[in-house]
Amino acid sequence: MPKELSPIETAKFVAAKQATQYVQSGMKVGLGTGSTAEWLVRCLGEMVRDQGLQIKGVPTSVRTAKLARDLGIDIITLDDAKWLDLTIDGTDEYDDKLHLIKGGGGAHLREKVVASASDRMIVIADATKQVATLGAFPLPVEVLPFGMRTTRTLIEETLIGADVLGREVTQRMQGDAPFVTDEGNFILDLHLNRIGDPRDLAIVLTQIPGVVENGLFIDICDVVIVGHGNGKVEVRDITNDTRDVVQFDVQDDTNLFDSVSD
Ligand code: 5RP
Repeated sequence: MPKELSPIETAKFVAAKQATQYVQSGMKVGLGTGSTAEWLVRCLGEMVRDQGLQIKGVPTSVRTAKLARDLGIDIITLDDAKWLDLTIDGTDEYDDKLHLIKGGGGAHLREKVVASASDRMIVIADATKQVATLGAFPLPVEVLPFGMRTTRTLIEETLIGADVLGREVTQRMQGDAPFVTDEGNFILDLHLNRIGDPRDLAIVLTQIPGVVENGLFIDICDVVIVGHGNGKVEVRDITNDTRDVVQFDVQDDTNLFDSVSD
């Protein structure tokens, strides 16, 4: 990985770096999935190695588990952890109420289970993830392979009565084969363009048999940390109703990325 990062990677990195401020020794931490969460895992791996940070990580995907293990982070299962101090994860979209669309990486089922078993969920993102209204990003819905076509029809019928702008449903593929989640399920992507009532949609989707989990995270995220390509980081805490700005020196501090970029 190059030491010179693109603005978007810099944004993800500084958001992840800022999120490590919330992590203390002795904590049980949910580790998200995706390119932004990878930066977080790398930063935590560095703190374990260089600063003696002692945490137990609960990964939200096979991919994250492997990376965390490779970096020397102690990994446990959610059942062993029982409850987590916090979860830090990326997002595909977030709105002003900190409702999210997740699942671009196909891990939203485990991500939601882990985040919901945490005292606090912190989302790390670059500024492109902020939206006025959720829905431009296709909403991932994890479904059982059993009866998948029937489930798809039921979803399409449900969308007729939903406050959305688009109603196309596509099955996520990986090459020529269906994408399969870590739980062995399929994903249907709902191209809705605009979701007028995310809370209502999340509820009606959950009521369809065959739907395992949808990618709407409603009232789960507590803090969003948004990184920018110039090193600026905005922190919004919806529980404490605070907004803070932090500036990382990405111009002069060439060592900032060195240790975590290999
Ligand atoms: C995976 C997710 C990711 O958090 C989301 O897709 C964001 O990923 P990235 O940080 O790569 O943009 O929900 O299921």
